[in-house]
Formats: sequence, C-alpha cells, structure tokens
Amino acid sequence: MDIRAFYIKTMGCQMNEYDSDYLAQSLINYGLFPVNCPEDADLVLINTCTVRAKAEQKAFSTIGRMSVQKMKKPDLILGVVGCMAQQKNVGLIKRFPLIDLVIGPREIGRIREVLRGINGGRQKIVKTSLKTEPPPPISCRGYFGRSVSGYISIMQGCNNFCSYCIVPFVRGREVSRPPEEILTEAKNLISQGVKEITLLGQNVNSYLWEKGERWSFTSLLRQVSGLAGLLRLRFTTSHPKDLSDDMIQCFTDLDNLCAHIHLPFQAGSNSVLKRMKRGYTREHYLSLIEKLRTVSSDIAITSDVMVGFPGESEKDFMDTLDLIEKIQFDSLFSFKYSDRKGTFAEQMDGKIEESEKASRLSILQKLQKGISLRKNMALEGKKMEVLVEGKSKRGGQLTGRTISNKVVNFDCNNNYIGNLINLQIKHGFLNSLKGIIPV
Ligand code: 5AD
Ligand code: SF4
Repeated sequence: MDIRAFYIKTMGCQMNEYDSDYLAQSLINYGLFPVNCPEDADLVLINTCTVRAKAEQKAFSTIGRMSVQKMKKPDLILGVVGCMAQQKNVGLIKRFPLIDLVIGPREIGRIREVLRGINGGRQKIVKTSLKTEPPPPISCRGYFGRSVSGYISIMQGCNNFCSYCIVPFVRGREVSRPPEEILTEAKNLISQGVKEITLLGQNVNSYLWEKGERWSFTSLLRQVSGLAGLLRLRFTTSHPKDLSDDMIQCFTDLDNLCAHIHLPFQAGSNSVLKRMKRGYTREHYLSLIEKLRTVSSDIAITSDVMVGFPGESEKDFMDTLDLIEKIQFDSLFSFKYSDRKGTFAEQMDGKIEESEKASRLSILQKLQKGISLRKNMALEGKKMEVLVEGKSKRGGQLTGRTISNKVVNFDCNNNYIGNLINLQIKHGFLNSLKGIIPV
C-alpha cells in the first residue's frame, strides 16, 4: 500500500510537540502530507507521555481508540512513539496487537528508514535504542511556518535521576546539540516568520558543548538572543540546583529575554526534597527567587509541585503550602505523586493513600487559585505588551501573551497576528486576562 497521508497525535509536554514537529517535517520531506483527522490518514503516529500515571492512562485510551480506527481500515499503519514506546517496548504490541511501529524518543531520526522497512504493514518494527547522539537535524523545517512561536530542543535526556522521575529511563542520558545547529535552526524559524523562540530541555541550565569552543547555556542564550528579527526568547525547564548567577544576570542583559522563569520546586520540605534527590533546600530555592526578583522585579515565576510523595507528613505538606504562600507564584502545575515503574521512589516505604493525596492536592490548588487570581486582578488598568499569536478559541477575539507568559484575549478587527501590541488590561481572570486596545 502507498503511504501518503499522515496524522500525528501529540500528548504530553513541549518536548513531545517539538518531536512531533520533527517527525512531521521528516515525513513531509519524504513526500507524505499531513492531514487533520486520523480517518483521512494512511499513517497514524501517537506521540505518548508516561511521566505520571494519568498521562499513561490517557495514552492507553488513545491507542485503544486508534486501534478501533485500524479495525475499520486494516491498511492503516499505526505507530506509537515517545516515552511510553520507550518504556513498554514490545510489550505495547502484546497489549495492542494492531500496533505496527514502536519508536522511542531517541529513534525518531530513523522514521523514514522504518517506513521503508514495514513492507506494506506486514512487518512490525520496534526501535528503542537510547543512543548517545540526538537525531540529525533536518535541513528544511517549515511546520511552524504559520506560527508566531517556535520551539527548539537544545538537548535530550536528563542525568538527574530525581527519585520519582521516569524521564532519565525513557529519554536517556543528557546530550547537548551542537550550538551551530541550534543557531541555524533558530535563523530558519525567524526567516519563516517566527517571532518568539523557546529553547527546550529537561534541564537547560546544564547545556554544555565542549567540542572545540566551549559553550554553556548562557553563552548559547546570549547568541540566540542576538539574532536579528527575534522579538522574544524563552527557555524551559530550569533546575534550581543548576540556576547560576550568570543565568540570572541574563534577565537584565538581554532585551528580548522574557521576564518569566519556570522553576519547578516539587516540595517545600527539606526532608522530602532530600528523598526526592533534588539537590537543593527550600532555603536555597527561596534565595534564588530573591535574586531573580532583585534583577527583574516583575519577573513571572511559575513552578511544578507534587503532593503525597512517599513519607510526606502533614508537617511536610504544611511546609509546601508555606513556600507557596511565601513565594506567590504566578501559576503552578500541581500533581499527585504517582509510582513510576523502575524509579527509586517506587521502592520507598510510606506510600500515601489516594484519598489523602487528593485532599492535599485540592487544599494546595485552592490556595494557588487565590494567589493566581489576585495577581491577575492586580494587573487591571495596566498597559502590557502582547505578542499576538492568533484567533482566540472563543470566536471573534484575538489572543496573545504578555512577556510574563499570561494569555490575553481582546476584541479586534485588524489582523495583528505576529505583531507586538500594547493593550490595557480590563479584567484579570484565573487563567487569562481580557485586554482592550487603548484609545
Ligand atoms: N508523580 C507525580 N508527578 C510527577 N512529575 C514527574 N514525575 C512524577 C511522578 N512520578 C511531575 C513533576 C515534574 C512534572 C513534569 O511532572 O512535578 O516537574
Ligand atoms: Fe525528571 Fe528530575 Fe530530570 Fe526533571 S530534572 S526530568 S524531574 S529527573
């Protein structure tokens, strides 16, 4: 059968979005074309996440739904890529026999070779080696062509082995991409109309290139920042143990670096942080926030936190709430701890009941909702610069983001997409702002 049309379903994080983009561009360069729904596709790839139990359940149900699709259209080639593919390996085909391809995150560079080998769907292929080299660059990238904001992965994998985390097992050890390759990719995106670039890595602060000239994360950041035509630069994710003074200084030195940092703290109790193997204390985290706010008083700070880590006492949980109260995050991603197979925490004693985790999560989320809403309402009446990204989901309006990464929706008849515009904030809601064009 001729494989012509492909559809990629992306689940999980920005890294997966980047990988899906890479896959899409490889397939387009191979002569295939993208379609918007799986019913029209000859090849369906599901890019999965397995970082928490909930993500895994979602991936299973999507694979189930796509398998039904394949029953209706037996010629369809069904592939699972990403972190769950890496973790479950051939086991995935045992559980879902209609799957044709299983490709781990470090093998996406071989997608075309894989398609050549499937022999019209008669051959199942599993590729899950955790090679040390990142996938080769693609000379022409265009998938973000119509988008204002683009991602660039600067490194793969993670070496930290936080005790709860499956990422080092499914994405392998840290490997940084060559700086020239990253700069070329950034220039390509800018030439295609991208105005904002986010540099991606599990732990961007430990980016390191030592072949020839030595490049740290900050030297890379400074070079990308200087590229002509780049209005905004962001990066994610930072690890508190590796956030250097030099990095913090970039918020003063680089005009187009957005005043926002996503700095996961995970827990506010030192004994929990120690068992999580995070490599910092709550005092160190607080001192970083102070430094950041000294160099950039309006900097937006967002974070990840989890409740119910094994052995988390009522007092530990109170320490987490106390840290949230002290720091006043702009927003927080909060999760219930879930066991991940093969991690250190999976073997720990003192597992917390689901009902207790749920109750702690709801207390924490209530606290944060109050803080987020108060912070957003405090912006009412202020003028803010917004990069207009597109039409808002709720019809008629345009949508964009402030430097601090807050979503602003506003009424407008002109096509300002891709431009910076100064808006006056009319209303602050929990997750977004409503703006108007000042008269
Ligand atoms: N259980 C719950 N949350 C987790 N995270 C990572 N592993 C787990 C786990 N086992 C969360 C962390 C991380 C975010 C991406 O997902 O907060 O920062
Ligand atoms: Fe997981 Fe820790 Fe690496 Fe983040 S830094 S990906 S939480 S091991």
